[in-house]
Amino acid sequence: MKYFLIPFLSLFLIACNVTAQEQVSSFPPSARPDRIVLNLKGDPAVSMALTWRTDTSVTESVARIARNQPGIFLPDSSVSVNGTYTDITGDGNVSRYHSVYFTGLTPGTQYAYCAGSGPAASEWFTFTTAAASPRPFTFLYLGDSQGSISLYSRVIRQAYRSVPDAAFMVFTGDLVDGGAGSKLHDDEWGEWYRAAGFITAEVPLLATPGNHEYINPADRQKRVLNRYWRPGFTLPENGPADLEETAYSVDYEGLRIIALNSNEMMRDTGYAQAQAKWVEELLINNPCKWTVMIFHHPVYSTSASRDNRTLRELLKPLFDRYGVDLVLTGHDHTYARGTGMPEGQEHGGKGDGTVYVVSVSGAKQYRQDAQKWWDVGLTNTQTWQSVRVNGNELEYTSFDAAGNTVDKLVISKKNNGSKRTIKSTGK
Ligand SMILES: [Fe+2]
Ligand SMILES: [Fe+2]
Repeated sequence: MKYFLIPFLSLFLIACNVTAQEQVSSFPPSARPDRIVLNLKGDPAVSMALTWRTDTSVTESVARIARNQPGIFLPDSSVSVNGTYTDITGDGNVSRYHSVYFTGLTPGTQYAYCAGSGPAASEWFTFTTAAASPRPFTFLYLGDSQGSISLYSRVIRQAYRSVPDAAFMVFTGDLVDGGAGSKLHDDEWGEWYRAAGFITAEVPLLATPGNHEYINPADRQKRVLNRYWRPGFTLPENGPADLEETAYSVDYEGLRIIALNSNEMMRDTGYAQAQAKWVEELLINNPCKWTVMIFHHPVYSTSASRDNRTLRELLKPLFDRYGVDLVLTGHDHTYARGTGMPEGQEHGGKGDGTVYVVSVSGAKQYRQDAQKWWDVGLTNTQTWQSVRVNGNELEYTSFDAAGNTVDKLVISKKNNGSKRTIKSTGK
């Protein structure tokens, strides 16, 4: 009988060993650049940041850039720009993330670039710098893509198909489901980039981390920023100390975008106070006509059990006082859009205050309680949004995965800065 058990015992021990072994990524790096992403980092009229991944056989971080031209001799007119790299070990691989910062560019100009050099360089991609003075432009906004990418892919692709000339795109956190801690969850980043294809290489990204960029699946209390975040992106470092590339601001043609790290605001009083103080300075000394906040946790939640009171008490008075136009968030895995109201009231009535949005681009969806703060609320609906900034008008539109309009409003602003919000069903 005991001889009969030996094969089963052996199989059990092998299975245990496999479970204990490191997960091996399905997306190993190679000498050829992948995970290519553009980020706005400094003045978007004269600069652009580029990040990509290779294996460790590539020992130089070199990209080439030129003004785009129709001729086939484009590469001859390009120049090399050197950058730096960071290695990340895990999931059976060592990945090398290269970062190059293009500066000294000409405003309102289309450029072509390739990541890497020699036979393993990427194809040529294009982007356009911001104009030196405001002109009409549109940016995209997507909430949590987190979880299975299988249904998310069509959302990012529909957004690009509908607004192929988007100036940039904003992600408000939980891009992936897990990724901090001992395991890299490299597959999730691999799928996220596969869903976007070349879009991240041509439409610059602004992203702010969600709680799932902090979660350690083995111990949810141990929270450190996802190991990919800083090597994998090249975002601004002009925010509060120790929050580089997670809390920052960018001015784009008369629009001030302020990204906050709401994870650290919720978790740490010091980071909360530092960010609130920093935001107030940016709002007081604001040369831009329009102001948009981006962060992960909603000021107004779509569920009574997910209220973020600390965040609201710290930030909403500032948004009211200095007339923030839009607050774009995620985290609640539903869609809702409302207009800011005085504290203690359920609705502002006039609808002339700050507009608050919760959005989700992925298929992971939560229940939505009936709340009176919103004008439009949707469950089990993946959405993406466009924001068109055109002089004294800001047009906000939310679309579903098939490209149908599900919500729309226009904020009109007079030259003296006063504004009114016009609501629309958008249907
Ligand atoms: Fe979240
Ligand atoms: Fe989430």
